[in-house]
Amino acid sequence: MNTPDQQTAQEQAARKRIKDSHALDSDASRLANFYRGWARSYEMDVDRDGYCGPMIVAELAGAVQTAYLARQRTAIAILDAGCGTGLVGVELERLGFRLIDGIDLSEEMVEQARQTRAYRHVRGDVDLNGPLSDYASASYDITVCCGVFTLGHVRPDGLRELARVTRPNGFIIASTRKSYAEATSFEGEVRRLQDAGVLVLAQRLNDGRYVAEEDAHYWVFQVLKKASAPEEQGP
Ligand SMILES: C[S@@+](CC[C@H](N)C(=O)[O-])C[C@H]1O[C@@H](n2cnc3c(N)ncnc32)[C@H](O)[C@@H]1O
Repeated sequence: MNTPDQQTAQEQAARKRIKDSHALDSDASRLANFYRGWARSYEMDVDRDGYCGPMIVAELAGAVQTAYLARQRTAIAILDAGCGTGLVGVELERLGFRLIDGIDLSEEMVEQARQTRAYRHVRGDVDLNGPLSDYASASYDITVCCGVFTLGHVRPDGLRELARVTRPNGFIIASTRKSYAEATSFEGEVRRLQDAGVLVLAQRLNDGRYVAEEDAHYWVFQVLKKASAPEEQGP
């Protein structure tokens, strides 16, 4: 059994690893390398830090299905974008969802997700900062994305591809740490996609619990019929 001093040291080390993960500049090889080394102890670290994002995101998916989707949970196709070790998938499965696919940059994180058996398919080496070329448009009823719109990880324009792979009238549920929402153009990207008729903001939980040191916003977007945003304008 750990002494209180050891526990404090472990909590500090966990927070340092979490903080270090925010300084990776959305660089795919640095991110993959960092998570390669973190995959085995990730869940212990985030648990020490009181991480409750996955439960909130999964429960929002449950509420959206009950409120808006006619089909049973067992027939709702969900993409967990940036699934990591599978914390969201496990919560979704607990709530009765069964058709859950996970994608992530890190093969090692995905291997942990595979072992949960909560997922139908999981796939690593998928970069959410680029086009999801292997994924057809309108493939999923709900796309969830937890802990991924985070500093140093996925840029706000990654939201456009999540909208593309989600079917019209389907939903995207995403967390953004407060620091991410403040430091990036995420809100601007949302406005741009709304103006282009790609999605609408259906709900937002402001300043919800997330980790011990920081809250997050939780966003629920509904994807509209015209799910492909115009390309970025050149200079
Ligand atoms: C903080 S973890 C969150 C994992 C999981 N969703 C959760 O809530 O526990 C961030 C995850 O995003 C993945 N990730 C970071 N940048 C990525 C990118 N550009 N494309 C795909 N996945 C990425 C990491 O590999 C890691 O598994």
